[in-house]
Amino acid sequence: MLDPCTILIFGATGNLASHKLLPALYHIEAAERMHPASRILGFGRRDWSDDDWRGHIQTILAEYGAKKQDASAISRLLARAHFVEGDLEQPDGYRRLAERLQGAEGFSGNLMSYLAVAPKYYAPIVEQLAANGLHAQERGWSRLVVEKPFGFDLESASILDLGLRRHFTEDRIYRIDHYLGKSTVQNILVFRFANLLLEPLWNRNYIDHVQISHAESQGIEERAGFYDGVGALRDMIQSHLLQMLTLVAMEPPPNLDAEALRDEKVKVLRSIRPIPREAVHAQAFRAQYAPGQAGGSKLAGYREEPGVAQNSTTETYAALKLYIDNWRWRNVPFYLRTGKRLGQTNSLIAIRFKHPPQQLFQSTAIERLKPNWILLNIQPNECMRLEIQVKQPGLEMLAQTERLDASSCTLPPEHIDAYEALILDVIEGDHTHFLRYDEVNWAWRVVDPVLKLWATERDFIQTYPAGSWGPAEANRLFDRDDQEWRNGLDG
Ligand code: BG6
Repeated sequence: MLDPCTILIFGATGNLASHKLLPALYHIEAAERMHPASRILGFGRRDWSDDDWRGHIQTILAEYGAKKQDASAISRLLARAHFVEGDLEQPDGYRRLAERLQGAEGFSGNLMSYLAVAPKYYAPIVEQLAANGLHAQERGWSRLVVEKPFGFDLESASILDLGLRRHFTEDRIYRIDHYLGKSTVQNILVFRFANLLLEPLWNRNYIDHVQISHAESQGIEERAGFYDGVGALRDMIQSHLLQMLTLVAMEPPPNLDAEALRDEKVKVLRSIRPIPREAVHAQAFRAQYAPGQAGGSKLAGYREEPGVAQNSTTETYAALKLYIDNWRWRNVPFYLRTGKRLGQTNSLIAIRFKHPPQQLFQSTAIERLKPNWILLNIQPNECMRLEIQVKQPGLEMLAQTERLDASSCTLPPEHIDAYEALILDVIEGDHTHFLRYDEVNWAWRVVDPVLKLWATERDFIQTYPAGSWGPAEANRLFDRDDQEWRNGLDG
């Protein structure tokens, strides 16, 4: 059984808490992983009683929780829920918080402070936690969980980090990148390091290029306030896509210890060839969705979304070409792409192999032999697929592609999110699937030159129709005409 603890949520009524954290806590409860003495404490500006907060949780779970709900798990979860009213930037709420936590109500001595708020509040919250003695609990542990984005660029990230480290040591900070909690992302490690067969091929001698792509059919929903100042490169590539790249490209760690693993990931980030200013146009591309349609319905353009400036040039689509300058990967391009309002929601890592040295066969009477691909589909379907060539039935000596699936490649029965696993890891004190600060720092160094140049070119941005697969011009990042984006498992 895990330690009892209090999960203190800053931003308790915000988007992240509603869409991800409360549903995840419900799943943990339903799986009976929550210690009987654990509590969930919301902190926010609303003048709410514990019962108001419980009512709110119930509404949220009805909207965003599991389709089939377990009434007994919900009532157990509600019984743990408490609320403290307070403003993030005013000391009095924190005093009430400390009194409540340290008072006679029997809250556990272990405290997980989850900062589900904008990064500008991180330092003020940490200062107030420390001023009230909550940064280092006498009766147990005190851990801080922070969400991406870790800053706005390299410089702001390091200022943000200094703010956290004034009162929390690195071993008590858990920087979440929720992609690291997804089971298919964790599976990259098993796939690579539990199968000897792949290792000899996993390098520049056999791999033509790697694509890491995250496409979303949704637009920015109600998140204009956050997104318009951030854009796709910061929102997805600096964090989730670069993290997946590290797992695909890293050397085998000596063991699965959090530090050993993170050391190897940092080495990959450090080996990424910096993009000089004059190469940004050749290695990076951005665009924004314009009005379009999907399934017969009209879709608004980005600039028409509520809260977006009418002349905004924020990118909703970004693509990068990166090189990793080490022995394994030298000159193998890694293409990273993400976009909102694209043709389909899909996250895919696609690894294309080189052609055999001699082309003895063709795919059809005119087509060249297709290359081998390994496809690691992260979502919505969880899938590991190998595309290989076999002889077509019949008299001709022609090849055709067959797919070997290492998993069912269908939708998981009930979508369990990454947050359950990550919250449990924090309670267990396991940093394996969290970012160390040097990873964040090196990831910013990769994208910073692109962000800096784009910031000077804010008067124009290319567009693509909402519901399409983005502008054809993004293909200019590819080295050769026979390379193209894989849009999902079958595309
Ligand atoms: C978040 C981004 O970190 O990840 C969102 O801020 C994005 O813009 C989301 O939609 C994607 O996560 P998932 O788990 O839905 O693929």
